[in-house]
Amino acid sequence: MFHKEYPNARRFELPEVQPLRGRSLEETILSRRSRRNYSKEPITMEELSRILFFSVGITGKIGRYYLRAYPSAGALAPVEVYPLIERATDSDLKGIYHYNSLEHCLEEIRKGSYIDELVEICYHQDFIRNAPICLILTVFEKRTRSKYGRRAKRYVLLDAGHAGENIYLECEFLGLSTCAIGAFDDEALCSLLEIDPEEEYPVLCYPISRRSKH
Ligand SMILES: Cc1cc2nc3c(=O)[nH]c(=O)nc-3n(C[C@H](O)[C@H](O)[C@H](O)COP(=O)(O)O)c2cc1C
Repeated sequence: MFHKEYPNARRFELPEVQPLRGRSLEETILSRRSRRNYSKEPITMEELSRILFFSVGITGKIGRYYLRAYPSAGALAPVEVYPLIERATDSDLKGIYHYNSLEHCLEEIRKGSYIDELVEICYHQDFIRNAPICLILTVFEKRTRSKYGRRAKRYVLLDAGHAGENIYLECEFLGLSTCAIGAFDDEALCSLLEIDPEEEYPVLCYPISRRSKH
């Protein structure tokens, strides 16, 4: 099946993850909220790995189709995730990466600090600035269009919504804060990610941080 990867990019393995015991699913759903008070404290690579795996990671396979943590029309999995890392402990990664779900690793797209640029792209929603990590979700609509034609437009957005709810729930489960951000300048975000809007476009951003004490 089609799988997006950056074969020439530097790769960074993510820690392997196993399910943790803890709060029940129902308690997690009850307490989930969009949280906008972020702390500058770094996120660990283990936490980032858990959030990626339990939101869009590969959790099964049927024939040639890889199945994900989120349900997907035709199992075509159009959701791509680009972590923007500003501060992470146990790593000196700072930049924009692509999550390669098949290898469970990060592929480097560009190094450097991009959080100020992202705040501007999100129409100056200033609370994003403190987030040590932000996940940017895109949909590769062309992939779903090859099977579903015009219906692909709605399917890819539904897929992304399912993946996004997983991000919310995993963050809540880990005691972290996040908030879906749908207000941004499409063109500017496509060029930050170096993606071609004809085949793939951004749908949501999820700044993630430890809970701020104040
Ligand atoms: C598609 C979508 C786009 C959103 N965009 C933004 C946004 O740009 N900025 C923001 O602060 N919150 C945004 N939110 C969060 C909503 O404001 C929030 O989910 C809503 O107020 C309900 O609160 P709750 O998530 O705590 O239940 C968005 C949520 C969704 C689902």
